[in-house]
Amino acid sequence: MHTRNYILVGPMGAGKSTIGRLLAKELGLPFKDSDKEIEERTGASIPLIFDVEGETGFRDREQAVITELSQAQGLVLATGGGAILRPENRAAMRQGAVVIYLHASVEHQLARTARDRNRPLLQTQNPAQVLTDLLAIRDPLYREVATLIIETDTRPPRMVVQEIMRFL
Ligand code: S3P
Repeated sequence: MHTRNYILVGPMGAGKSTIGRLLAKELGLPFKDSDKEIEERTGASIPLIFDVEGETGFRDREQAVITELSQAQGLVLATGGGAILRPENRAAMRQGAVVIYLHASVEHQLARTARDRNRPLLQTQNPAQVLTDLLAIRDPLYREVATLIIETDTRPPRMVVQEIMRFL
């Protein structure tokens, strides 16, 4: 029986949702995605929430979802790239969950997010610079919460999942 939670953290374009869904199937657990959960509860897209409420409004909604879902038992949770920014979220994640940091280089993040309009923070002239700056700030925070760090640059999602399974 799996009663632990498995929480995926890492930057935009690391593959958290794809890998999370596959991992959940492998473990026979339900899968949740914090961004999707926020959109369902709000009835609005992430870009619209950023537009209307600003990043702080979005982070408040994100914190509510993460603290609530971290209390659940036995699910796989993919989190947004900035979920580790709030200490409350980091504390909630560390409560008995296996936290997996999906590491990706800026080059790979960029390739995987290039044509995506759904990420407000990347709607800029220079997404490479934004991703570089975000990673510099966030990498230590991902590492702080992580039980496991997995490199995603060199492997397709199915192999990342196999690699995760080896450590569980
Ligand atoms: C964000 C990442 C996004 C989403 C929002 C903010 C971030 O999630 O939560 O656009 O701050 O890195 P993904 O990491 O799933 O793209």
